[in-house]
Amino acid sequence: MMVYLTRRYRFSAGHRLHTEALSPEENLRVYGKCNNPNGHGHNYLLEVTVAGAINAATGMVFDLVKLDGIVAGRVLDKLDHKNLNLDMENFRAKVPTTENLCLEIYDLLRHPLEEAGGEGGLQLNRIRLEETSLNSFECVAEGAGAGKGKG
Ligand code: NI
Repeated sequence: MMVYLTRRYRFSAGHRLHTEALSPEENLRVYGKCNNPNGHGHNYLLEVTVAGAINAATGMVFDLVKLDGIVAGRVLDKLDHKNLNLDMENFRAKVPTTENLCLEIYDLLRHPLEEAGGEGGLQLNRIRLEETSLNSFECVAEGAGAGKGKG
């Protein structure tokens, strides 16, 4: 039986939605006020879901202290109070939409979490990122079982 553990985190960051692939007029049309030259900020709500079997000895899917440490080290320390366009290498050329940020967070966490899961097997099942109370995005693992689809 797979059990899903979801933990919630918060961070704040700034961004500007703009791509060199479009003209200034097209950028304004596509991104609206999110294209404002000097950017704007969000208080993001991040949910990290891991899936695995309950460890018979501990009664837990995964240690929350370990989870918090990995999320802090790999994601929160890198993103919190940062300018995503300027401070994140991967967003120099890629637009820091919340879709792209959600995928970036998935990629940052997948291997560290799945490795920390050890032999019991742990899957990073889902990253959900809320940009505002009206918008949220999710990246969900392809393939069902814990530890599957590594690569
Ligand atoms: Ni925005």
